[in-house]
Amino acid sequence: MEIFNEIKPLRAFLTAQKKLGRSIGLVPTMGALHHGHLELIRSSRKENDLTVCSIYVNPTQFNNANDLEKYPRTLATDTALLTEAGCDVIFAPANTEMYASPSQLHFDMGHLDKILEGEFRPGHFSGVALVVSKLFNIVAPTRAYFGQKDFQQYKVITHLVNELMFDIELKSVPIVREASGLAMSSRNQRLNHEETGYATVFYRSLLLAKDLLNKGESIIPVREKVKQLCESFPAVRLEYFEWVDTVNLKPAENVSSQTILLIAGYVGEVRLIDNLIVE
Ligand code: PAJ
Repeated sequence: MEIFNEIKPLRAFLTAQKKLGRSIGLVPTMGALHHGHLELIRSSRKENDLTVCSIYVNPTQFNNANDLEKYPRTLATDTALLTEAGCDVIFAPANTEMYASPSQLHFDMGHLDKILEGEFRPGHFSGVALVVSKLFNIVAPTRAYFGQKDFQQYKVITHLVNELMFDIELKSVPIVREASGLAMSSRNQRLNHEETGYATVFYRSLLLAKDLLNKGESIIPVREKVKQLCESFPAVRLEYFEWVDTVNLKPAENVSSQTILLIAGYVGEVRLIDNLIVE
């Protein structure tokens, strides 16, 4: 496996590969890899000649300095996992490489980046769009892989690719969960044993809500039940629970079209998100 910290040699390497007609899959990550990330690597390997995984904790998408500082950084373990998974290239740049000068570029995506995560993490999606645009321009992949775990992020990136006409095929990969149902996340590493148990409340809330909605209950009492369930754990603080359509992320009204339940909240100091498609 090749490891690059700088853009120039990475570009030279990839240009040579492209000249040989090789397709390239890009898996952007912030490291602290788990089986969710590795599923993206697996999908990319199936569909491309070469898989590039970027590992970069992007400061412009963090609106909370404490979250950025505490974000787990485990490059040695990540490298071992990627080697074992058969990844071909790691791109792990320093901040000075990705932001040679402070960026003044901001993205406004209207409704899409104002709701849900956008409401609670102002500026987050602008930072994501900025770094993903940089990665797309550096790697110029054939395909890029993202997880359904960050459903709204996938929508934002789809919008970005359409508006800026990136010639890249986007792929969405289903959520990988622990046996307990907890959605895998790099932030789970920050939970203690007890908190890891409490954290399953988000997935259980989604399952409960989906079941009630499918039985014909309306969203108002469902929302109340989810709130009560989350509030039964003092360490858990619900931030939002929403039911929206999967196309425009506008409030859903019934289960006949495809809709999605999204939830976010804190367990102790750690912020977690999860979602579930309602068929
Ligand atoms: P990160 O949180 O490291 O996630 C990298 C990719 O892995 C994302 O596409 C995310 O949706 C996916 N992923 C995370 N947990 C998953 C799970 N349990 N199952 C399936 N996929 C999962 O998302 C980011 O980094 C950043 O915002 C990034 C796109 C790299 C831009 O900085």
